[in-house]
Amino acid sequence: MSEPKPTYRHDYRPPAYRVAHVDLTFELDPAATRVKASLQMERHPECKEGEPLRLDGEQLILKHIAIDGQALESDEYTLDDDGLSVRQPPARFRLDTEVEIAPCDNTALEGLYLSSGMYCTQCEAEGFRRITYYPDRPDVMATYSTTVIGDKAGQPVLLSNGNPVKRGELPDGRHFVTWNDPFPKPSYLFALVAGDLKKVEDRFTTMSGREVTLQIWVEEENLGKTDHAMASLKRAMKWDEETYGREYDLDLFMIVAVNDFNMGAMENKGLNLFNSAAVLTHPDTATDAAFQRVEGIVAHEYFHNWSGNRVTCRDWFQLSLKEGFTVFRDQCFSADVNSAAVKRIEDVAFFRTAQFAEDAGPTAHPVRPDHYIEITNFYTLTIYEKGAEVVRMLYNLMGEEAFRRGSDRYFERFDGQAVTIEDFVDCMAEASGQDLTQFMRWYSQAGTPEIDAYGEYDYANAEYHLTLRQRTPATPDQPEKAPQHIPVRMGLVGTKSGRDLGLSLEGESLGSDGVIHLREAEQTFVFTDVPEAPVPSLLRGFSAPVQLRFPYSREDLAFLLANDSDGFNRWDAGQRLAMLALDDLIAAHRNGVEKVMDPRVVDAFRSLLERGGDDKAVLAEMLTLPSEAYIAEQQPLVDVEAIHAARTFVKQSLAATLRDDFLRLYQENESDEPYAPQPEQIARRSLKNVALGYLMAVEDEEGVELARRQFEADHNMTDVRQALTLLTHSSRDDLAAPALRSFGEKWAHDSLVMDQWFAIQVTRPQTDALDRVRHLMAHPAFSLKNPNKVRALVGTFVNQNRINFHRADGEGYRLLADVVIELNRLNPEIASRLVTPLTRWQRFDEPRQELMRAELERIRAEKLSPNVYEVIEKALA
Ligand code: PHE
Ligand code: ZN
Repeated sequence: MSEPKPTYRHDYRPPAYRVAHVDLTFELDPAATRVKASLQMERHPECKEGEPLRLDGEQLILKHIAIDGQALESDEYTLDDDGLSVRQPPARFRLDTEVEIAPCDNTALEGLYLSSGMYCTQCEAEGFRRITYYPDRPDVMATYSTTVIGDKAGQPVLLSNGNPVKRGELPDGRHFVTWNDPFPKPSYLFALVAGDLKKVEDRFTTMSGREVTLQIWVEEENLGKTDHAMASLKRAMKWDEETYGREYDLDLFMIVAVNDFNMGAMENKGLNLFNSAAVLTHPDTATDAAFQRVEGIVAHEYFHNWSGNRVTCRDWFQLSLKEGFTVFRDQCFSADVNSAAVKRIEDVAFFRTAQFAEDAGPTAHPVRPDHYIEITNFYTLTIYEKGAEVVRMLYNLMGEEAFRRGSDRYFERFDGQAVTIEDFVDCMAEASGQDLTQFMRWYSQAGTPEIDAYGEYDYANAEYHLTLRQRTPATPDQPEKAPQHIPVRMGLVGTKSGRDLGLSLEGESLGSDGVIHLREAEQTFVFTDVPEAPVPSLLRGFSAPVQLRFPYSREDLAFLLANDSDGFNRWDAGQRLAMLALDDLIAAHRNGVEKVMDPRVVDAFRSLLERGGDDKAVLAEMLTLPSEAYIAEQQPLVDVEAIHAARTFVKQSLAATLRDDFLRLYQENESDEPYAPQPEQIARRSLKNVALGYLMAVEDEEGVELARRQFEADHNMTDVRQALTLLTHSSRDDLAAPALRSFGEKWAHDSLVMDQWFAIQVTRPQTDALDRVRHLMAHPAFSLKNPNKVRALVGTFVNQNRINFHRADGEGYRLLADVVIELNRLNPEIASRLVTPLTRWQRFDEPRQELMRAELERIRAEKLSPNVYEVIEKALA
């Protein structure tokens, strides 16, 4: 096989031919679906006559091809593995093709495939070319009219984008529906669904008074699990009207739940397809976190109707144009309808763990990449989450009103067009009058900037001198970096008063909570009129996606934890304090020295527990120790065992010393009111479950009893899952085994709950975890063909059970490589995502490095998909 070739951003050329309108007809059949396409085409006025027409097409059997009704002779076109070229088409013409495809053999889940007996499509990024011959690129936008023909019995429901305009009966028990989508769209937003589905219906009146029908389509047994998604959809529609002035544009908005889906969900025009895990909820089957995730994803896909669909991307290098912006929009929505402080804490905790790791590893890339081999490898935390952080910086730089003016300008100017990141940033620059030239580096430079900060109080002159030095480490093909424009939101907290002091920077007043702009490699900021010695509170709210170091003492951190006016930084001070203690304990473990708990951490936790008055949801976050993954991210070389031992030690020490406080916290937050996914209830449950986690860390008798009772009470999935997890992760196999058994039997019929059952078991710290993974892979509920199952069992193990995945004998690595090799054939997209932890080999000790590289080499020896090929080559470069 020839090596897959990269695509370069600088090679972009506008399409030679555009498509004004497409007529599609599908005759569904599992092994031989017929797709007829009729494209109204026009040569671009600037294009020369005789320019060949290139259409993408993969795994298609061409049955017929004609121009303006005239079948093409074999010398008028050429066919190859990835498409078709027509030699000399006229300036305007109709192209008719007919192809045959086999949805039943499609395990990659791109294009048209079967999921639980239902036909569905996934076209982003380049799946449409597996359905028909087409210029499958986002800058070709056309109106679509789609006729779907299916069996009345097997596919009573036939859906596509837009509005249904015609339906009717056909011979042999078949029927058809024709759909019309009046909004020009790129092929990646095309969708079709056909199957035996049931709907839940609701209505929404838009701000201009139009009535929109909302439908959620599911398998019959899931009809009771759509309420939350529907409520979330209506909230999102309202929010987008109020916050961005964006109104929905069709008369019908549909969501379909699909069991086999590579990602979370997909924003196809008027017909969003959702991984069933991202849309179905019920108090008995879904946790609070799942409810919140569903709300966020429903909103995200809905928001794409403007940021992505009405205004789309010129090419896939601009992916963050729609994804970064839309993630920012869904984050703000979730913050508005839930606890804003907790939302930010959770997002940042995740970002600093997972995106920082990506940005520091062999697959690091800019928010706007310069080249790729396989675009599906670029649906990354950098494109999505770092992209969202960049938009958030813009929002904060400009302020709410100017940002809204900029976004209005963007949507108005580019409606119906496929555009670039510059187009977006230009609108923002115009609306704010700011020069964003240096800011654009956030899109082009990979790697996480590191800031070393240093501060000094000058008593004599009542000045505080803050020096910030920035540096971005080298990343693959970017050895040298230029300084970034980094907005640092900050305060100076007076050590006597415990209050924010006014910030006056070289005579200019910034209020008590201000933003300073670091643009050079090094800058010193002199604050005047500082009446008392302060502790600086830096990067409030995580105002830029950077790693900031400051030589805080533990006393400083305990002080900030108690006094900072910024809730986010109070939490962060607690995390930093815990990190200092953890560092000592990691060193002690490595040196074989007895571990001693830092009393300052215990005191800080005690005052948190005693002072009350805090937002419960935030308190639950503050009482949560940094994860093993985050701790690892902060170490120069990852010592998996020492990290695990140190964190366990801290948790047990806190639990032992503060046992009564945790018990009280548990009791105070118990409740038997009926479940509702409301912020106050969620906050109470998380606080209670954090407390239970501590009590179980020492397997306190009363704690064990509480966990057992909480499991048995069976009140809601949040509580049941936490109790079952704690029992399963404890040494009490006598309690864990029967609990797991009864849970597994009770939920054997519910695939999404079984995913949780898998995840709970494979995160066990005990040494049998890996054997359990292998054993559970043979369980009847498991299938390598279902991405949710792969993620729940294998993904959870390799990403969240670090101590067992990184076993010194290399068995964890071997297991992962075995699975990746199989998935490389079945589902390359999932395979190349799953392999990620092996690509981080450079972070570990020599023996592990060798074991990991050996598994990467073993994968490399296979006949690889472009997806896995690209990742493995980078990892071994
Ligand atoms: N565009 C989808 C989203 O972010 C994600 C997705 C990408 C889904 C590719 C499927 C395939 O909402
Ligand atoms: Zn998206």
